[in-house]
Amino acid sequence: MTTSAKEYRVLALSGSLRAGSYNTALLHAADKLNPGQMSMQIYSSLGDLPLYNQDLDQEPPPAAVHDLHRTILRADALLIATPEHNASVPAALKNAIDWMSRLPDGSGLPGKPVAVIGASPGALGTVRAQLALRQILASVGADVLTKPEVMVFGAHERFDSDGMLTDGFTRHLLTGLLIELTRRIERGRSD
Ligand SMILES: Cc1cc2nc3c(=O)[nH]c(=O)nc-3n(C[C@H](O)[C@H](O)[C@H](O)COP(=O)(O)O)c2cc1C
Repeated sequence: MTTSAKEYRVLALSGSLRAGSYNTALLHAADKLNPGQMSMQIYSSLGDLPLYNQDLDQEPPPAAVHDLHRTILRADALLIATPEHNASVPAALKNAIDWMSRLPDGSGLPGKPVAVIGASPGALGTVRAQLALRQILASVGADVLTKPEVMVFGAHERFDSDGMLTDGFTRHLLTGLLIELTRRIERGRSD
C-alpha cells in the first residue's frame, strides 16, 4: 500500500470470510466512494488467524496474528463491516479482537478511531451485531464513532449481481461516515 503525506490510512476489516459477502462488498463500496484523502486497505486474511487459544498465546505470536497486528499499528483508523450471526458478532471478528487484545506491546486499538458498519439481508441490518461490536471495541479502548449509523437491512436488494452498492441512501450514509472518520483522524493528529 502506498500513501502520501496527506493520506489517511484506513484498514478495512470484514467480519465475513465468504467470497460473495455483502459486508466485504460494503467495504469495497466505501473504498470507491472515498470522499476524503483515504488510502484504504481491505484486509482479507482474518480467516488465517487460528482460534484464540492461550496455549498459542506466546512470543512470537502466530504469523497471521502478527501480520494483522502490524497492519493495525500502521493504520490511522479502522472501518469494520460486521455481519450478524445469531444476533451478535461473527466468531472470526471476535477472534481477531481477542488476539489483538492479548498482545504484550498493545493491540494498537486504544484511542484508534473505528467506524462500524454492517449489512444483512434481514430486517434489522446488523443492529444487534453492531451493538455487541461497539461494546467489545469500547472494552479494548477504541475510539468508536457513533454517527452516522450504517445498518444495511435488506442487503440483497442494495447490491447488484457484481457486488456493487446500488442503493443511493446507503451510499449517502457511508459517505457521511467516512467524512466523520476523516475528521476524527484529523482531530487526533492535532491533539
Ligand atoms: C450462523 C449464521 C447466523 C446468522 N444469524 C443472523 C442474525 O442473527 N441476524 C441476521 O440479520 N442475519 C443472520 N444471518 C444471515 C446473515 O446476515 C447473512 O448470511 C449475511 O449475508 C452474512 O453476511 P455476509 O454477506 O457479509 O457474509 C446468519 C447467518 C449465519 C451463517
